[in-house]
Amino acid sequence: MKGLVGIAHTRWATHGGVTRENAHPHSDNNGRIAVVHNGIISNYRDLRERLERAGAIFRSETDTEVIAHLIAHRLAQGAGEFEEAFVAALRELEGTFALAVISVDAPGVIFCCKRESPLIIGLGDDANYVGSDFNAFIEYTRQAVILEDGEYAVVTRQGYAVKNLRTEESVPKEVTEIEWDVEMARRGGYPHYMLKEIYDQPATVQAVLRIPRSDLAGVARMILGSRHAFLGGVGTTYYVAAMGQYFFGQFGGRYLPAVSTDEFPHLADVGPEDCLVAISQSGETYDTLTAVRHAKSRGAKTAAIVNVMGSSLVRAVDLPILQGSGPEICVISTKAAMSQAVLLLLASLELGKLNGRLEEAEILRLRDEVDSLSDRISETLNERSGFLHTAARQHQQMKNWLYLGRGVYYPAALECALKMKEVTYLHAEGMSAGFLKHGTISLIDENMYTIVLMPSPGEKELHSLTRSSAEEVRARGGFVLGFRFEGDDASKGLFSEEIVLPRVSSLLAPFLHLVAGQLLAYFLAVALKRDVDRPRALAKSVTVA
Ligand code: AGP
Repeated sequence: MKGLVGIAHTRWATHGGVTRENAHPHSDNNGRIAVVHNGIISNYRDLRERLERAGAIFRSETDTEVIAHLIAHRLAQGAGEFEEAFVAALRELEGTFALAVISVDAPGVIFCCKRESPLIIGLGDDANYVGSDFNAFIEYTRQAVILEDGEYAVVTRQGYAVKNLRTEESVPKEVTEIEWDVEMARRGGYPHYMLKEIYDQPATVQAVLRIPRSDLAGVARMILGSRHAFLGGVGTTYYVAAMGQYFFGQFGGRYLPAVSTDEFPHLADVGPEDCLVAISQSGETYDTLTAVRHAKSRGAKTAAIVNVMGSSLVRAVDLPILQGSGPEICVISTKAAMSQAVLLLLASLELGKLNGRLEEAEILRLRDEVDSLSDRISETLNERSGFLHTAARQHQQMKNWLYLGRGVYYPAALECALKMKEVTYLHAEGMSAGFLKHGTISLIDENMYTIVLMPSPGEKELHSLTRSSAEEVRARGGFVLGFRFEGDDASKGLFSEEIVLPRVSSLLAPFLHLVAGQLLAYFLAVALKRDVDRPRALAKSVTVA
């Protein structure tokens, strides 16, 4: 191709099927404007309807296409310069985006803008670049300018100008030498480690699937050979263990009580015929190490699921399994917890095989299903984060959040609530939905928002029970934000607001709720200007009693 300016996109569009029409770039009616975009425009439906009424002809099913038509519309309405139309159009967009726009009306220029999704300008000798990641242009230049949320840039071959989208004033930017700014390079252009680590999850799930089955079977054998087997963790890892309880019950045919390790020595009657499977990201948590030492002192066998190699826990237990999630820098655990939950699920399948409940063919089928979780998580991140972002911004004044779930969605609700309180400093409580009417329902009023984690619609009984809980809250005038799945028609109209997650099987459903909970907590924390990666009073590893 000839020309001095160009834009391209390396992923399929997040809306609509995998078709040429849905692939970026997207254009206006006359093909004079082209747009590529990461993220999601959460108000695209409203914009599309409005633009169609004004004569726009949409060729794709994407959210992105509205941007091209919106700029064209602004130009038609008399915006003088292309930049003026670009700015006016962008101010109407809700959701998340990193986008680049070119037009025949502004030859040789790339207009770009960022909100939540990363965007970086690379400064070369005879060319400038725009990318979502340093890696996009690292072979041409290591000089970069990192855009912050709400900034846009006008980039030409000779130079660039960064401005504030709201005020249109120039923003002086430092040029970052990529080699020097290791921190930012590690964050991969994401504004916070928390967001990067949430986005790492499709890859960390795959890492868990690469753990040799013989290692998982080793833990399963330890469990099978024990009189009592316990799962132990604290904070998030306790909630992960509590999810594991359901997996081991359903697939492994064995009730493995999850015990919070801070209480383990006071609660678990552990002896030489028993075992403890401890879960810890850091492998340095005092409570979990103490529980393991207590179990060992009583002669019990120990195993651990740990992220950090060479940590104290790895050295302390008989059977360590490294989850391979890579460094988790943010104090809030996201990708590590997700991987641990998946790992427990896979281990429960091995137990099911050992005790004759599951055939090998069934295990392979279930592992295949878990394999598809990465894609479903990506879909959630790419297509639904905009809606969660909008919900977080709209409801940032709310100080009390209640998360409800039943079955395995109950510990998932507990974990979502913990994410919320850790990073936003707001009051959030997770609860089994059935427990609600035994007291807590008296708290329901306009000052309490309830999030209901709906099961997959295939889980008929759980689904109907959870619906009743949502109805109970609404009947008392409570606001209910439903996290429901695509295809769940029975829940339509049940909630005050809803986040629709991609259609998945019941096996994968609770994991997508975790992602939604993480994103909601993250966006709310950003809206409230919290110190996302280092929330007050928290430490990455709690090494004291
Ligand atoms: C998770 O977001 C928390 N920071 C915290 O609950 C954590 O999970 C807990 O302290 C256990 O840590 P570990 O996984 O390193 O053992």
